[in-house]
Amino acid sequence: MKSNRSIRAFTRQEIKTVYRVMAMRRDMRHFLPDPLDDALLARLLGAAHMAPSVGLMQPWRFIRIREPKLRVSIHTLVESERVKTAQALAEREDEFMRLKVEGILECAELLVVALANNREAHIFGRRTMPEMDLASVACAIQNLWLAARAENVGMGWVSLFDPEALRLLIHMPEGSRVVAVLCMGYVAAFYQSPMLEEANWAHRLELNDLVQTDYWRDENATPGSFYAASVKG
Ligand SMILES: Cc1cc2nc3c(=O)[nH]c(=O)nc-3n(C[C@H](O)[C@H](O)[C@H](O)COP(=O)(O)O)c2cc1C
Repeated sequence: MKSNRSIRAFTRQEIKTVYRVMAMRRDMRHFLPDPLDDALLARLLGAAHMAPSVGLMQPWRFIRIREPKLRVSIHTLVESERVKTAQALAEREDEFMRLKVEGILECAELLVVALANNREAHIFGRRTMPEMDLASVACAIQNLWLAARAENVGMGWVSLFDPEALRLLIHMPEGSRVVAVLCMGYVAAFYQSPMLEEANWAHRLELNDLVQTDYWRDENATPGSFYAASVKG
């Protein structure tokens, strides 16, 4: 193993930028029609492919949707699931139907992200937790999301669809599985805060309530102190 002493430390500015990109990343659902350049898209997919994965499995596959009629079919699948989700939400049905939950028809690029087939051959890190393949794909999507934000490109993660219907629609093999539909493109402005917060649908929890030490504690018992202590310390 080589020592990392020769590795240049990141500057304060570079560190700040990393945190800033994370803070300013947003799930976007409004897009401008301007196309994304192929080289830019290749850079973003390169960022996704840099992600960590269980046993270096790299289970991610990216399908770029170019046929307009396929895009419309994907939108139809999402629309059908949106209605079913609204019905399942019962008393929040109308409120949900007013939310904008995708930008499939407007965005410059539409990507389907999937888990490859034959994943059972990968056992390292998955014997007791096979879902680590899905966790790995989520890491790739987050890399893509952050790289896109750094490049001033908006991205929206859509998960409202029947994954089996989408798998069949785009001729994915049996055993593979759709994870996400990603809308990507330039935007007029990034939302200041999550759109679901702006619409009063949900709010970010307090970090202090989510961090515990040693043992899981009853949520109604004494509040956590890790974050407050770290900030003070
Ligand atoms: C796994 C996953 C699936 C999501 N699916 C959808 C979706 O189907 N439609 C949608 O509008 N937003 C979706 N989102 C975006 C979330 O609503 C969004 O990340 C959250 O409200 C916080 O907002 P922010 O990403 O702007 O910080 C998804 C996000 C994740 C991580």
